[in-house]
Amino acid sequence: MRRGSIIAGLDVGTTKICALVAEVLDNKINILGMGSAPSTGLRKGVVINIESTVDSIKKAVAMAETAAGVEIRSVYVGIAGGHIKGFESYGAVGIRGKEVRPQDVERAIDSASVVYVPLDREVLHVIPTEFMLDGQDGIKDPVGMSGVRLEVKVHIVTGAVSSVQNLLKCCERAGLEVIDIVLEPIASAEAVLTGDEKDLGVALIDIGGGTTDIAIYRDGSLRHTAVLALGGNHFTSDIGIGLRIPVLEAERVKKKYGCAITGMVDGTAEMDVTGADKQVRKIPRKYIAEIIQPRCEELTELIKREIESVSAKELGLSGAVLTGGASLLEGLDRLVEADLGLSVRIGMPEGIKTKHIPHASGIENNLNNPMYSTGIGLILHGSMNGSQRVFYGDMFNGIFDRMKEWVGNLFGVNGHDLRGKTVTMKQRV
Ligand SMILES: Nc1ncnc2c1ncn2[C@@H]1O[C@H](COP(=O)(O)OP(=O)(O)OP(=O)(O)O)[C@@H](O)[C@H]1O
Ligand SMILES: [Mg+2]
Repeated sequence: MRRGSIIAGLDVGTTKICALVAEVLDNKINILGMGSAPSTGLRKGVVINIESTVDSIKKAVAMAETAAGVEIRSVYVGIAGGHIKGFESYGAVGIRGKEVRPQDVERAIDSASVVYVPLDREVLHVIPTEFMLDGQDGIKDPVGMSGVRLEVKVHIVTGAVSSVQNLLKCCERAGLEVIDIVLEPIASAEAVLTGDEKDLGVALIDIGGGTTDIAIYRDGSLRHTAVLALGGNHFTSDIGIGLRIPVLEAERVKKKYGCAITGMVDGTAEMDVTGADKQVRKIPRKYIAEIIQPRCEELTELIKREIESVSAKELGLSGAVLTGGASLLEGLDRLVEADLGLSVRIGMPEGIKTKHIPHASGIENNLNNPMYSTGIGLILHGSMNGSQRVFYGDMFNGIFDRMKEWVGNLFGVNGHDLRGKTVTMKQRV
């Protein structure tokens, strides 16, 4: 039997850590195994406890390995958190030959990447959004075209060095090599957006437990990224405080009876709620909506501000796609639709198959949930060998080699000259 290449994705989320293993054969992606473990070592998308994060990663990876019957050594890992910042940059180069070669494209992107980045931040992604050749804009792939001056607009994503380092450290301690760190909304977008949506203009909104990640696409390219430190866990804690019930019970009632719009709830409906004293009380269901609607409105307001900051640059959008576990909250899609004035749909992960693998049956049903968009997206990102990745492949290697050096140094493995930056990081550990 022919065997394809194996790819593993690791979504280190605030509520769950999910490992996925897939086989890529003839451009088809088959999920072989999946493992998920509760995550207790993250807050608002950032690692705050290395030991418990390593434990959860090991559990999730072991489950995925058992299901798939393969050993996972290297992974594509997702990153999010309020420390992530995205901005635009611009570069230009002269063309030496008669037509644009891949090296010219690389030089143009390199020149756009020469930006001031504070010592405590690191570049994670440099994504070309548009090329211009001799003043002609809107070019997606200039290779082979004739011209003398190539310009490029890029979207640069940076993260706090300490947060990136801690994530890498957790993976290394769990025995995993990190092939690439991918911004979570970019991964989720791979899994849920269609090419038409990206062309027409769309906001991908991944509402997870601790963060809401946004990626805005227009004309087929990524234009804006943002991570908001607000997610489904805030709804849960509001319910816990409002009804004076334990967090686990608040989480249960949120999923079963929660609604983002008070007016959508039957005013006469009641529900059973168990208090900390184990007493069961009957309370009106609309109480929950009354508690969480203001928080949902706060979230939609923050999303609206992000989208408007991009729309101000004349970037009209045709819709928004909600994904992530908290997008399942009843009525949240309608609230976002009303607040943003855009058509909204819930995005389920797509582009995967599991059917013909006997021991993987059932995974597909489990994975058909917006919670797994990032995990599936990491696999899709890993399987991509299109031109975009070729463009910035070398740059990534540079970044990751450096990051690995830092981590290696923290473990006392390497002795590289790491400039003043690393001394600060060593002191922090
Ligand atoms: N049916 C549901 N109704 C409402 N909320 C839900 C439902 N199912 C899951 N959630 C919420 O989704 C959130 C978890 O989503 P997800 O798994 O996408 O987050 P995560 O990836 O772990 O976190 P993050 O991306 O923020 O780091 C939790 O707050 C959970 O309560
Ligand atoms: Mg997530």
